[in-house]
Amino acid sequence: MTIVPERTQYDLLFSQQAQRGAHLSSILVDLPNEKPDTISLAFGDADPHVFPTREITASVHGVLTEDVDAILNYAPADKRLLDLVQNRLERRGVAVNPSQLMITYGSSQVLGLLPQILVEPGETIIVEGPTFLGAVEYFAAAGARVETVPVGPNGMDIDALASCLADLQRRNIQPKFIYTIPTFQNPTGTLMPASARARLVALAAEYGVLVVEDDAYGDLHFKAEMLPSMLTLPGSEWVLHIGTFSKILAPGVRMAWAYGPPAVMKRLRAFKSESDCGTFVTRLVSHMAQDGWLDRHIGMLQSHYAAKSAAMVQAIAEYFPADVRTNIPEGGFFVYGYLPNDLPAVALNDVAIRRGASFLPGTTGYANGQGTHEMRIAFSFQTVPHLVKGIAHIGAAMREMRAKNS
Ligand SMILES: Cc1ncc(COP(=O)(O)O)c(C=O)c1O
Repeated sequence: MTIVPERTQYDLLFSQQAQRGAHLSSILVDLPNEKPDTISLAFGDADPHVFPTREITASVHGVLTEDVDAILNYAPADKRLLDLVQNRLERRGVAVNPSQLMITYGSSQVLGLLPQILVEPGETIIVEGPTFLGAVEYFAAAGARVETVPVGPNGMDIDALASCLADLQRRNIQPKFIYTIPTFQNPTGTLMPASARARLVALAAEYGVLVVEDDAYGDLHFKAEMLPSMLTLPGSEWVLHIGTFSKILAPGVRMAWAYGPPAVMKRLRAFKSESDCGTFVTRLVSHMAQDGWLDRHIGMLQSHYAAKSAAMVQAIAEYFPADVRTNIPEGGFFVYGYLPNDLPAVALNDVAIRRGASFLPGTTGYANGQGTHEMRIAFSFQTVPHLVKGIAHIGAAMREMRAKNS
């Protein structure tokens, strides 16, 4: 990860955390400039073609005619949205205590608050490698020492986690939390099986470490039934679960939730300085979700993204050399690839961009510089014809590099 030191006349004023955090979003720094017509398969933006603009417009009118005085004034969190999230968690078997549930401005808000309540500089946290580096950057800015546990074909390698925890204990180090994305992981798309989830939570309980279960893609499954949230497993008193409306409604609404142990929620609330989220948008989301609309919408999104994923997998089979190994996602937004030695990802991306398409090099998912021969390819944003064309460009770039090297 390239960290660009930033020097300004304000340096004497910044807190140490702000100085460390000056490289936040350095993921972007690592990427070469794309041309305006580059088919970007780098970022996991939602598909604008499935934004529910008609329903949002109708709901804006709906909520404004309901109770405009309350909706546009200071007010506590909209109870209807809390009820909606509670209901969705209960349908997954979670015994919800409403006092442990909180609505937030995106799950990013929780990820940003977490180090404030858990991490002193130099303290240790555990993350998957690769992972959603956007989250790890918040933790690293707080001064966290980041331990990386590898991700295999079934998500986080739980044997490696067990060794990591035992090793830290031997060295008298108390890790603060384990950050995991068990369902359609970003970036690998992997799905952690139920048995591994159970082992992970049991280990967390044994060692007294919080598990942060980031469930950003949980609803976007293509064929598998939903696996249990870690909140339903023995040891769940060690689990903080984070979910978001970003992938199932629209990232721009910035609505998400957190559910976890009372003591953790109390501190998260204390540090969420603006108190509850805006009544207008919270009401908007609950208004849209009513009468089963959200369930129907999620069903449509599942088929939509499944078709795009299938198109990408097929294009990869057609255009990539056979020794590039890729996963076949069962949900989420991403295909993840493992490149042979002669195709380093950053150099390949340069050639691909010259040919008209880009992807996200694997190093952007690791806090420790690994992933030089890995690639994340997002099928979420581009249309099917574009993503097929993008894969063809990347495949041609692979052949071009090989021809030059041979
Ligand atoms: C795993 C993961 N967690 C959290 C987020 C951020 O989501 P939100 O829009 O709710 O802040 C993302 C966004 O890409 C993500 O991939």
